[in-house]
Amino acid sequence: MHLTGNTIFITGGGSGIGRGLAEAFHKLGNKVIIAGRRKAALEEVSKANPGMAALELDITDPNSIAATAETLIRDYPDLNVLINNAGIMPFDDPAEEIDDRVATAIINTNLLGPIRMTSALIAHLKSKPRAAVIHNTSVVAYLPLAANAVYSATKAALHSYTLTQRFALRETGVKVLEIAPPWVDTDLIYKSGDPRAMPLDAFIAETMAKLGTEADEIYVDAIAAIRDNPGVNEHALINAFNQSLIDNPIPVG
Ligand SMILES: NC(=O)c1ccc[n+]([C@@H]2O[C@H](COP(=O)([O-])OP(=O)(O)OC[C@H]3O[C@@H](n4cnc5c(N)ncnc54)[C@H](OP(=O)(O)O)[C@@H]3O)[C@@H](O)[C@H]2O)c1
Repeated sequence: MHLTGNTIFITGGGSGIGRGLAEAFHKLGNKVIIAGRRKAALEEVSKANPGMAALELDITDPNSIAATAETLIRDYPDLNVLINNAGIMPFDDPAEEIDDRVATAIINTNLLGPIRMTSALIAHLKSKPRAAVIHNTSVVAYLPLAANAVYSATKAALHSYTLTQRFALRETGVKVLEIAPPWVDTDLIYKSGDPRAMPLDAFIAETMAKLGTEADEIYVDAIAAIRDNPGVNEHALINAFNQSLIDNPIPVG
């Protein structure tokens, strides 16, 4: 994608990967609008980056999405890039009864959120000669975590949705991209400093470099083999990886 000359809306831009992408695009001179539920986080990021705008949004609420889309189209008519980044990652256990409230929240946030947000802006984006929808999935779309089973399923589903949406929009000016991050050290669960997690700065640098190419799927080199794992023998790595997390748990923060 073109890294300059865009007006970019980033959900979950008040922290972590969303903030990192927002600041990187802002530094390149793009107009950036961030969104999320926590007003204080949005204010902190927009104050630290003069010219960046912020909107309060609850991605689980269709009314909030509709109001946000209306504001975006009215106040930022040049909007041409949507980055669906907001997400949550509560633990669960597919060997036990699920907590329906938690499972519903994960699906509403991570899967229905990006689907609804894109739907609310798609007519506007199609009116632009050069537009992009970028979905933030995860390495766990390809290598699911047993301790975050519903989360992993939403990310695999969002990967699938990305493939079909890319095909459906192939004759429009809207490119559909996927960023599939590895484990990045953010507050998604808690910042652990675990050496297995990629530092945020390094992740953003490699991701921005790859966004500047023609690639549709953006993932760091370190997880290329995991991206290639799906196939008839995928269980071997999935089982071995999940066992390794039982043997070497993430230290509790
Ligand atoms: N960190 C990783 O290892 C990793 C790996 C792969 C993929 N990802 C994905 O990267 C994305 C960003 O995560 P992160 O690691 O940067 O963690 P993070 O700092 O916790 O960011 C998540 C963001 O989502 C926003 N959000 C959550 N629920 C929302 C809602 N209902 N409405 C609007 N915004 C909401 C949060 O803002 P508010 O709380 O203010 O609403 C927050 O800014 C997520 O989709 C995550 O699944 C992360």
